[in-house]
Amino acid sequence: MIILAFPDYQSQAQRLATRLNAELADVTVHHFPDSESFVQLPSPLPEHVIICRSLNQPNDKLIELLLCASTARELGVKRLTLVAPYLSYMRQDFANQPGVAVSQRIIGKMLAGLFDDVLTVDPHLHRISSLDQAIPIKNAISLTAAGEIARFLKKQLDYAVLLGPDSESEQWVATIARQIGFDYSIAHKERLGDKHVEMTLPTSNFGNKPVVIVDDMASTGRTLTKAARLLKAAGAGDIHVAVTHPLFCGDAETHILEAGIKTIWSTDSIDHPTSCINLDTLLADAIKAIV
Ligand code: R5P
Repeated sequence: MIILAFPDYQSQAQRLATRLNAELADVTVHHFPDSESFVQLPSPLPEHVIICRSLNQPNDKLIELLLCASTARELGVKRLTLVAPYLSYMRQDFANQPGVAVSQRIIGKMLAGLFDDVLTVDPHLHRISSLDQAIPIKNAISLTAAGEIARFLKKQLDYAVLLGPDSESEQWVATIARQIGFDYSIAHKERLGDKHVEMTLPTSNFGNKPVVIVDDMASTGRTLTKAARLLKAAGAGDIHVAVTHPLFCGDAETHILEAGIKTIWSTDSIDHPTSCINLDTLLADAIKAIV
């Protein structure tokens, strides 16, 4: 077995290779002036190849993944595993108007055609119950970072109230709270546009208590910003954030910091200055279970 590392995902791929005691090799990527991607794999390759790369900034990365997977097959690879801790294009999961491309289904089918196994972490599956409904292969494996986040939070804080900003987040917040014995509550959120969310806090007493807002991802940061402002107004103590996927697009961080959030912790699913919770053990254990 060998793990292929893209240049932007070297450290995570290296950590995974170390955990699995597997060889690591580089995929060479070059971007031509017109932004086409040149991709070169090491050759020859063994029968089982694992490609490890999150699919944030997905449009380029999906093309590079297609080039990489197709070339691996041409080189004779029999088993191809994708480890994409962040899996993009999972959010558009139904046609809310005629003609809307249901990207979750389309990209899912594409990945199913390329890979024997797909492993990801906390994917955005709100209208389906399992990842194989989006990626129709036997080993479509959805892991959760809740356990890693719980262990991390327990080391940082003696006590805090966990706040889930919307009903979808309850699955992670409740798991973490149960594991470390913290209280939790869930806000009500309505998204009115890419950068416009409305939120109502639950009636819990936040007065002077440390709060950790827990979510699967921070994209524009507006969800976290709104939650933090409401918590401040409700008299909360220190406000922290723990997210699985730190996308932090555009001006997200400026908004979040202006809202008075003290600390942001995230996993290394995406490289970011706040990435301090490594997923290598979680991913390696899941791979060991299927090979
Ligand atoms: C929504 O369902 C997700 O769980 C996140 O709350 C959302 O994607 C965060 O997006 P943003 O940072 O743009 O508010």
